[in-house]
Amino acid sequence: MRNKLSFTNFLTVNIQDQRHSERHDMTRKKINRILVTGALGQIGSELTAELRKRYGRDNVVASDIRSDESSAVAMGGPWAMLDVTDAEAVEKTITDNRIDSIFHMAAILSATGEKNPQLCWKVNMDGTLNILEAARENDLVRVIIPSSIAAFGPETPRENTPQETILRPKTMYGVTKVSGELLCDYYVRKFNLDVRGLRYPGIISSETLPGGGTTDYAVEIYYKAIEEGRYTCFVKKDTMLPMMYMPDCIKATLDLAEADFNDLVHYSDFNVGALSITAGDIAESIRKYIPDFEVDYEPDHRQAIADTWPMGVDDSAAREEWGWEPEWDLDAMTTDMLEKLRVKLL
Ligand code: NAD
Ligand code: SER
Repeated sequence: MRNKLSFTNFLTVNIQDQRHSERHDMTRKKINRILVTGALGQIGSELTAELRKRYGRDNVVASDIRSDESSAVAMGGPWAMLDVTDAEAVEKTITDNRIDSIFHMAAILSATGEKNPQLCWKVNMDGTLNILEAARENDLVRVIIPSSIAAFGPETPRENTPQETILRPKTMYGVTKVSGELLCDYYVRKFNLDVRGLRYPGIISSETLPGGGTTDYAVEIYYKAIEEGRYTCFVKKDTMLPMMYMPDCIKATLDLAEADFNDLVHYSDFNVGALSITAGDIAESIRKYIPDFEVDYEPDHRQAIADTWPMGVDDSAAREEWGWEPEWDLDAMTTDMLEKLRVKLL
């Protein structure tokens, strides 16, 4: 353990020095016309709504590989069907809609990715390359591409996981996230493209269900508390992972997107922390409002994935470079989730 930590310290100091020496200064251009990919997903759906509030309804084009014409996303502004693995379609959507910035949310998540690793690679890597290439060719203002705590692996220190550390994930999803981070940073250095990204923790929200991740239990537990008063959790009670409530996720994404590029030393791989909580902590918090809520624990294949991810992350780079600060704690999130889900489900 001591060897691993001193190696990590060595890595941190050397990579930080290297990053400072490679810093790029760029004239800041304004975001005007936005494309959101994967806009029907858990994050894309709420991000699109917030972007439309800030940048104007008609300036945010939502897209996804599937359609849902009755969704708030499709009805709330411009809409395009778009498969991000189709490079020509990506190019055409950007030029037809005079897009200058992209929030790239289309992806295959960890649990689905383990069922179909080839599809995970194709969507996450070909999709990301197509977005970056189209952004480069069309001289776009900004591209936001999320990474994940899945970029880490079993050799990574799990407590207060450093910004610079060992990145040896064991899932295909994690492999694509590390590769994506490296690819995005390459486009910054090689082509002067303004690309930014964060390593989201597990995101908890009430609007759209998550799409096949390992942290889905942290959302399902709230739905089942309201619907059935009991839940069978697919990870162990003491499984601790970094989590974040959706309003903080949207805030982090937009704070980074709107930060001055010249203040950044990192670009595509910011650790962002909020909550470090176990499945049991969430159940306990729900019981403050639903005292007879029952949870049992039947770990499945997703336990092995969760065991390779951090328990909490050191997000001091995000705090220093663009002022990251989370606002929601566990009980405030639980109150809000339960209120919103009661309205939605009952
Ligand atoms: P999600 O699974 O809920 O949504 C992804 C969307 O992408 C879906 O609507 C899906 O239809 C769409 N999609 C899939 N293949 C596509 C393709 N070929 N072309 C276009 N669209 C396609 O995912 P999310 O939770 O909203 O995640 C958004 C981003 O945030 C992803 O990069 C994900 O890796 C990252 N992330 C999410 C979490 C989380 O807890 N939700 C945590 C860490 C990182
Ligand atoms: N919530 C995501 C997943 O579990 C983390 O990236 O796949």
